Amino acid sequence: MERIKIALTKGRTEDQVVPLLEAAGINCEGLRNKQRRLIFDEDPRYEIILVKGPDVLTYLNNGSVQIGIVGSDILTEQENFQYAMLDLDVGRCRFVLASTKDFNPQAHRRKIIATKYPNITKRYFKGIGEDVEIIRIEGSVELAPLIGLADAIVDIVETGNTLRENNLQIFAKLQPVNTKVVVNRLALRQYQPQIKALIASLQRADQQMV
Ligand code: PRP
Ligand code: MG
Repeated sequence: MERIKIALTKGRTEDQVVPLLEAAGINCEGLRNKQRRLIFDEDPRYEIILVKGPDVLTYLNNGSVQIGIVGSDILTEQENFQYAMLDLDVGRCRFVLASTKDFNPQAHRRKIIATKYPNITKRYFKGIGEDVEIIRIEGSVELAPLIGLADAIVDIVETGNTLRENNLQIFAKLQPVNTKVVVNRLALRQYQPQIKALIASLQRADQQMV
């Protein structure tokens, strides 16, 4: 039988999803000791590749992989409403507007907002009728208000540790974020029994883990 190819978002999603894959009975030995490897085929049923979030969608849309595991933040930012077969409970978090304690969200001047998510930020401020300048940052966005690059940030908060350890506060809660298992529609038809079995076992594992 042909292997099902899974694109897994590396980093935080990977850390949360690997235990889930194991609980679903998938051999993740390679992922546990990965060093610089990018393809994992320890489990004879699957080939798991590690990529950045937006690239999960590129591989999936192109049909190079059948399944993607990716945060809803990436799907929403790219307005890429993929066919999500499963919403996972692991990795639930939220978008927030955050800054240093002296930030005044009511101030009338045009604010500068730093973020990795310009579209989500644009939509949020449009929704509250405010025009802001957005500066796109690739990571460690929390630095921007501390170093004077921006007035505030729009970013994801999970445990709140990053905000706390950098003396930042939440000024508004935006939409929640979760991890989704998305499937290429054509692949779903082609590999239906295998994909359905995988989704069912991931769902069981996810319910056991929370
Ligand atoms: C994410 C996010 C926050 C942090 C939130 O960053 O951008 O900075 O995690 O998690 P916490 O509330 O549990 O601290 P990540 O570590 O993925 O790195 P990056 O922003 O540099 O890409
Ligand atoms: Mg960060």
